[in-house]
Parts: sequence; structure tokens; C-alpha cells
Amino acid sequence: MCGIVAYLGSREAYPIIVKGLQRLEYRGYDSAGVALINPKGELNVYKRKGKVSELVAFAKDKDISGHVGIGHTRWATHGEPNDVNSHPHYSQTKDLVIIHNGIIENYNAIKEGLKKRGHTFLSQTDTEVLAHLIEDIQQNENMKLGHAVLAALNQVIGAYAIVVMDKKDPSTLVAAKKGSPLVIGIGAEDFFVASDASPIVEYTKNVVYLEEEQVAIIRLGHELRIRNLKDKEITPYVQKLNIEIESIEKGGYDHFMLKEIYEQPRSVLDSMRGRLHADTGDIKMGGIVDHEKKFEKAKRIIFLACGTSWHAGLVGEYLFEEFARVPVEVEYASEFRYRNPIIYPDDIVIAISQSGETADTLAAIELAKSKGATVLGVCNVVGSSIARATHGGSYTHAGPEIGVASTKAFTAQVTVLTLMALHMAKVRGTLSESRYRALLYEMESIPSKIEVVLKLNDDLRKIAFTYKDSNNALYLGRGVSFPVALEGALKLKEISYIHAEGYPAAEMKHGPIALIDDEMPVFVIATKGANYEKVVSNIQEVKARKGKIIAVVTSGDKDVRAMSDHVIEIPETDEFLVPLIAVIPWQLLSYHIAVMRGCNVDQPRNLAKSVTVE
Ligand code: AGP
Ligand code: GLU
Repeated sequence: MCGIVAYLGSREAYPIIVKGLQRLEYRGYDSAGVALINPKGELNVYKRKGKVSELVAFAKDKDISGHVGIGHTRWATHGEPNDVNSHPHYSQTKDLVIIHNGIIENYNAIKEGLKKRGHTFLSQTDTEVLAHLIEDIQQNENMKLGHAVLAALNQVIGAYAIVVMDKKDPSTLVAAKKGSPLVIGIGAEDFFVASDASPIVEYTKNVVYLEEEQVAIIRLGHELRIRNLKDKEITPYVQKLNIEIESIEKGGYDHFMLKEIYEQPRSVLDSMRGRLHADTGDIKMGGIVDHEKKFEKAKRIIFLACGTSWHAGLVGEYLFEEFARVPVEVEYASEFRYRNPIIYPDDIVIAISQSGETADTLAAIELAKSKGATVLGVCNVVGSSIARATHGGSYTHAGPEIGVASTKAFTAQVTVLTLMALHMAKVRGTLSESRYRALLYEMESIPSKIEVVLKLNDDLRKIAFTYKDSNNALYLGRGVSFPVALEGALKLKEISYIHAEGYPAAEMKHGPIALIDDEMPVFVIATKGANYEKVVSNIQEVKARKGKIIAVVTSGDKDVRAMSDHVIEIPETDEFLVPLIAVIPWQLLSYHIAVMRGCNVDQPRNLAKSVTVE
């Protein structure tokens, strides 16, 4: 999720690592650290919460010599951002150090086993456990570092990009990859390792992209060697980078927003990782396990949020009511905080926030707590103010969202809320076992279905061209797709400055239908489901007034296609999971229209990424 840079060779490692971490800053992070082995064989580790610049200031007057080192920028998933939880992490003897991007799902079980063997831990992270496990194997099996890493990773469940360094062997680095990216640069007499090519390209264009479940043994003066987790030797495939440094600040995308739209298969998967177990029918959400009883007895759920997060809460309303049969209210935090709301002891309040710093949401949480409510959080930033102000909750593991217009945070929030609603349905017995299991398996297919829709990007760019000069737009949806209409409208207006409104499709005839003419594009979600026929009628009402119809439909739909100006086909899914997929076309459409209108997509006028003021 964040940044890795490592160096082994004849040059000074520190400046290369620091510059590389700065090139990865676009990925967003909350802390940074570096480990170096100096010419005397001493291992020096410097790590701080905060920016790379703060790490540099901290290390200014320290020993930063050495021709081998590893560096990391962290986006916390386990253990809040602070100096101790920052990477690199030590092993038990402090001979090994590790840096890691990703999530070790079974770290707790491994940690308990190591504790029984006398290991003690300094941090709350999953990463530190891996350092201890590698050393435990290295010592007890008398293995070389590369094989000890390989053996350890065979015990690990989760996602990782790691680099491990052993103070006893300063001419070797071991890297490994599963689920998080890792690139190895091969220089004339040195090696570079990084999360993407940007820290490498100025030194060498010869790179090897590590594949899934591969371990690289990098030894000075030797050819790069790669093994898979079955310990089979793999011939490294060396590629020539044909990119220039300028084009890779954003990982090759023109804007953060586009990069984050394309990250959604991964961010949705990461938000389910370690929580959804369709094969056993289990949903494990650590942050709410202490509130299981409250969930079972809850007589009402109240969502508190703003903006896109409020739209995610509105999707949550449909999910909790449908699956867990519990009444739900969705409150704008900015309104709730100034009312005198009635809160009952059996209420569960859920605050949703990407940044975890939104002032209105924070204030609403404090008000709810003052009235005795149990308040849970769904946040994307570990250790954020909202995460710390709530009694518990679940993090969305979407990774840093840099673009001001929220995209992957929305689908990650809806993913977490879906799991919560299904979990609540399970403990309350309000969903048949067959439908419950079917929904769990369907959730597992969502990332690949989002991939399918992302392939329609060129079609959406063409549709965007048709409507880029519109002055107004209407978004319609029914049922659980109504919040997606609101989200689509918000995306368009906040980055292209076109006035757009989202409406329940049926509500259009109670006023907004007066707006329909041949200048009005109407974006409709008309996927298969209980409301399909009704939405078709609404489309006909629009057509009768010469409105332009752009419809998101279920693959293979012919009826809506026949009455629409443009159709975007998305893969079939359970009708209550449609928002996770149907929102993608609206995200891409608003992105392309904004680009065509010359707008600042990542930093739209008047907007801030986190509204920390009232
Ligand atoms: C969404 O695209 C906007 N940037 C904005 O509405 C945002 O969702 C809102 O400010 C809430 O932010 P939060 O999720 O960080 O609390
Ligand atoms: N899970 C690790 C941690 O929380 C790594 C997070 C990251 O990818 O930066 O420290």
C-alpha cells in the first residue's frame, strides 16, 4: 500500500533510498524509516511518524553511511502511526530488519506461537511478527536468509511486498512479493528494489517485476536469483523500462483519481481480506467482535457521515434493512450535530469517514457518545481522530486516497458495510443460510467484476465527449442504486463543475421532470432486479420529453438498450451488491468529462480532501 526502496551496491545507500521514498510520496503515507549497515557492520535504524522530510531531519546528524539499506513509507493497517510502529522492524536478536507493504492476516496466531518461544514484541504491527518468524526459522532450521524467508512466507496468509536485511550478511538482500507490487532494478554493479519504477529509472532501465509468490535473493557480485514459494528456481525476466521519470510519479496514470479508480479491484479485495471466508461461511471483523451482543440486540442503526461517505451510509441503509432487518437512519453529520437527537441505549451509531478527520462527523460522534450511544467507525486512516474517538469499528484498507474526489474509499466503505450487515444478519438469524452463503461467494467475485467494467474506459471516454458541454445532468436510480445516483451526481459536479442532481427514479415525476428536454442528459442505473420494470417506465417518461438516456444495464440487456442513447453493460450480480459495480461507470465518466473541460481533476476548485473545519 505504500513505499519500499532498497539498495545494495557500491554507492552510498542513504541518499538513493531517501530520494526514492520522496519519489513514492505520491502514494501517501503516515510515517517513514530507513535501516543501513555501515562499513563497520553496524546496523542503524531511523524511523519516525510523519513525512520523509521529518525522517531526514531526524537522521541529519546520525551515522547514515553504508552501501546497503532499506527504506519504507508506511500506510498503517495494524497499529496506529507512531515511531515504534514505523518500519523497518527488528527481529528478536535485532540482527534482521524488515520493511513490508501489505497485510499479514494471520499475524496474531503466528505472534502467539512466537511468544511461547520467548519472543517479545515492541510494536502493534503485523510486520514485526514476520521479522521474528523469519529469524526463528533461520536459527532453528539453520537456514540461509533466502530460504528462511521462503519458509516463513509459506506460513503467511495475506499480502506482502517485503525486503529483509541481515546485519550478519551485508552483501545480501531478500525480497518477496504477493499482492503488493515490487520491482528490482539491475545496475552495472548494484541492485535497487522499489514499489514501482520511479525510484529506479534514473539509475537503471533494466528491471525485473517480481511475480506473485516469488522470493528474490539479491547478492552483490552475483546474478539475481528468484525462487517461488515451492522453492523452484525461476529465471528472472529482465525488462527494459521505456518510461521517463516524469510519467511515473502517479504510477503511470495522468491523475491520482484515475489511478484510484483503477485500484478498486485491489482495494475492495483488501477491505475483505482476512474478514470474508465464504468457504466456511464466516465473517470475522476484529473491530466489532467486542460489540457482537450490541449488534444482536440493536433496535436501530444510525449512520453519521458527510459527502461520499454519506452516500455509502445510504447504501448501508438498504443493506442492513434487507439483510439484518434492523431500522436504519442515515444522518448528515453536519445536521445531526446541531439537533437534539434522540438516542436509545440499544442504538448503534456508525460513523463513516475516509479521512477520519472530518470536523462535522467528529462533532456528531461526540454528541452521540454524550447521549450514551455505542459508536463504531468505518475509516480509511488508521489512528485518525475519528478512529480514536469511536468505541470500535473496521478500517477500510483502501490505501491512501489522494484525489479529492472520493472513489475507491466509497467502494471500500460499501464493502465493509456489506460485511457488517451480513455479519449482523448471521448473528440475528434474519437471512437464510443459502442466501447468506450466496452473498458471501458473490462478494468474492466483485473485484473481478469491477475489472470487467474498468475495461469499458474507452467507451466511457466517448460518452463523456458527447456530454462534456452539458450545463446540467440528472442521475436516477431506485432502491439500493438510488445512493449511486447521488454519488454519480456528486462526482460530476465536484470535478467538472457541471450542475448535476441525483434523484430516486420514481421521484423525478414530482418536479425534476420539468427539467427534461433534449439538452438534459439523464444517467440511469437500470440493472436487473425488483425495480427493473419501474425504471424502464421512468426511462420512457424521459424519452417522451426528448431527454438523453445514458443507462447502466446488466450484461445482455436488450430492452433498455433499445430505448437509450448510450448503454454501459456491467456483469450481473446480486441486486444488493450492484452499487459496488454500477458506481464505476459514473466515476470514469465524471473523470473524463472533467479532463475534457480542462478542470483540475485531483484538486477541484474550492474543495479540500479533508474538511477539518465546520
Ligand atoms: C467526496 O468526493 C468529497 N471529496 C467529499 O464529499 C467527502 O466525501 C466528504 O468531505 C467526507 O469526507 P470523509 O469521508 O473523509 O469524512
Ligand atoms: N500492515 C503493515 C503495517 O501496518 C504495513 C502497512 C503498509 O503497507 O504500509 O505496518
